[in-house]
Amino acid sequence: MKLTTSVLLCIGALFLSLPSAAQKPSIQHGPWITNVTETGFTVMWTTAEKTFTWLELAPDDGSALSACRRPRFYNTISGRRQAGTIHSIDVTGLEPGKGYRYRIYGKIVTDDSSAYGTAYGPESRMSTSTVRTFNHKSDKCSFVMVNDIHGKDETFKALTREISADSVDFFLMNGDMVSYINDREYFLQHVYDPAAELLASTPLVYARGNHETRGSEAHCFGQYNPTSTEEPYFLFRQGPVAFLVIDAGEDKPDSSPEYSGYADFETYRSEQLEWIKTATRCPEFSEAPLKVAIMHIPALKERSSYFAQLWVNEHFLPVLNDAGIDLMLSGHHHTHKYIQPGQCGNKFPILANDDTDRLEFEASADGYMIRTVDTEGKITATYNQDGKVTR
Ligand SMILES: [Fe+2]
Repeated sequence: MKLTTSVLLCIGALFLSLPSAAQKPSIQHGPWITNVTETGFTVMWTTAEKTFTWLELAPDDGSALSACRRPRFYNTISGRRQAGTIHSIDVTGLEPGKGYRYRIYGKIVTDDSSAYGTAYGPESRMSTSTVRTFNHKSDKCSFVMVNDIHGKDETFKALTREISADSVDFFLMNGDMVSYINDREYFLQHVYDPAAELLASTPLVYARGNHETRGSEAHCFGQYNPTSTEEPYFLFRQGPVAFLVIDAGEDKPDSSPEYSGYADFETYRSEQLEWIKTATRCPEFSEAPLKVAIMHIPALKERSSYFAQLWVNEHFLPVLNDAGIDLMLSGHHHTHKYIQPGQCGNKFPILANDDTDRLEFEASADGYMIRTVDTEGKITATYNQDGKVTR
């Protein structure tokens, strides 16, 4: 039988795409640390090949990792451990404010066609790093925020290269890190790769922007960014500060032709409003000396304000005022905006960071200090609880 060139190429491609029995697993994107609490965190990463993975944990106390058998964690669903290309391992049962070392391991699945026996490639260590859990008893809180990067890797790298994992409690992405999610690979490449070393050891908090709601794969956002509520809005506490991460959704009316019938954000915002009313009454939030709201679209009301911004100003803002919010941090406008209390119904200042600065935040129970820093490392503005200090 004579095989045509195209048939040979197809057979060749088939063999090339199959993992060899000797192939070791390697990470494609990650790891990044998310969903951090006082007692746990989630480690996420992706692989090109279907891989069976697990995580070993040890306290970050200088003891030898191999000194004794360390606890292992797996991605387990209803009693069955998972293999795949998206890896999400919940680490639980930890102590507040404590450093932990983690190692992730894997072996490529070479044949799982039988329900009674899976063949694997060799076992290999894929990554090692450290992370610290949150602690509401800590006397300080610090983080760095970037926003509106829109896939510009060089800007992202310039804004994050000076940040050392030891210097901050977490790293905050405040929306529009990419312009849309039509392709998962594009999303992973531009969100988790440019600051990969930082994200392997610094808790990531990712507030969704209006642009992350766009594109045929936009629904994957939550899969890569698990939260305590399983929604992009959630609450957490570090030291004296309680954080309310909220999501204004898309900026235009749901009926806008660009959304092609996919948008249902008017219902989403109304449901979220009810959640905010309840969540802000819990002691984790209400007893915090400082309360910070994080929302990509600031709850402003200006002449240029459009649909969703006006809605959150009218509906979210009164609830946030009643909840005793001390500060809102936002982005969206690609320029600095500092809105004094009382300017548009707000009882607290609203600070929108621009797209070419990082925002550095430090707080104690007595107050906070904010610096915005450009890609050259130059301080562009300083704020505290009394307002703008310099410009
Ligand atoms: Fe935006």
